[in-house]
Amino acid sequence: MITIKNSKEIELMREACKVVALVYEELEKVIKPGMSTYEIDVIAEEKMRSLGAIPAEKGYDVGIPGIPPYPASVCVSINDEVIHGVPSKDKIIKEGDIVSIDTVALKNGYNGDAARTFIVGKGTKEAQKLIEVTKQAFFEGLKYAKVGNRVGDISHAIGEFVWSKGYDVVREYQGHGIGKDMHEDPGIPNYGKAGRGARLQEGMTICIEPMVMEGDPYIVELEDGWTIVTEDGSNAAHYENTVLITKNGPEILTMTREEKKREGVK
Ligand code: MF3
Ligand code: CO
Repeated sequence: MITIKNSKEIELMREACKVVALVYEELEKVIKPGMSTYEIDVIAEEKMRSLGAIPAEKGYDVGIPGIPPYPASVCVSINDEVIHGVPSKDKIIKEGDIVSIDTVALKNGYNGDAARTFIVGKGTKEAQKLIEVTKQAFFEGLKYAKVGNRVGDISHAIGEFVWSKGYDVVREYQGHGIGKDMHEDPGIPNYGKAGRGARLQEGMTICIEPMVMEGDPYIVELEDGWTIVTEDGSNAAHYENTVLITKNGPEILTMTREEKKREGVK
C-alpha cells in the first residue's frame, strides 16, 4: 500500500531522516584504513541512539525460513560486496577500498534510509568513477520524482544513465516507499520503462537507491544469508536518499545543509 504522509508525519519523517544525515556526517570524518567494519557499526549505532533513534536494520526479519534477522546496526559492503555486508571485527578496511554503508534510523515511529559509498584514501580512478556514476544515477532518477510522473520514469532514467556509462544495475533489489515501515510500496527498480508503474503524488516519501556494478549484472548471496556480492568479483557501489514528493518537486530529506551545498542541491 502506498502511504501519503500528512504534514505532521512529514515532520516526523524529516526528523528520522536528519538522524541518518548526521550519521554520515560523522562516519565521513572517522573512516580510516585499519578500522574494522564492526567499529563503523558501533559508531553509527551510538550516533543514532544519541539522537533519540534506533537502528532499524538491527533484527530486521525478512520472514524467510533459514535467513536470520539482520544482526547489525548498519550494512557495510566493501568492494565486490554490493549491499547488506554484515559488519565484523575481522573485516578491516584498507587504503583504496570502496566502502558502501546503508543506514536506517527509526525515530518516533518513522524511518529514514540512506546509503553512501566512500573511498578510503584516494582510491583508483576507476573506483572514483564508479562512485561518481552511482551518485549521479540517483540525481538522474530524482529529476523525474515529480507529482504526476510515474515510478517507471525514475527507473528508466537511472537504468539508461548507468548503461550509457558502461556499468550495470542490480536487478534483484530496488528502491521503495518508506514511512512507518522501512519498506513500503511502491517498489522503485533501477531500470524499467518510462510511463509505467504507480503515479507519484504529493506527500509520498520514497527511497531512490541505485546499486551499480562495474561488471556483469549477476549477484550471489553469501552463506550468512545477507551479504550480496557480484558474481564476477567486480566492484559495486550504492547511493540512496529518502525523498519527499512535493508540488514544488522532490526534496531530499537525508542530507545535511552542508552536504546539499556540496552536492549543489537546493
Ligand atoms: N536499508 C536497506 C534498503 O535500502 C535495507 C537493509 S536490509 C537490513 O532498503 F536488513 F539491513 F535491514
Ligand atoms: Co532503502
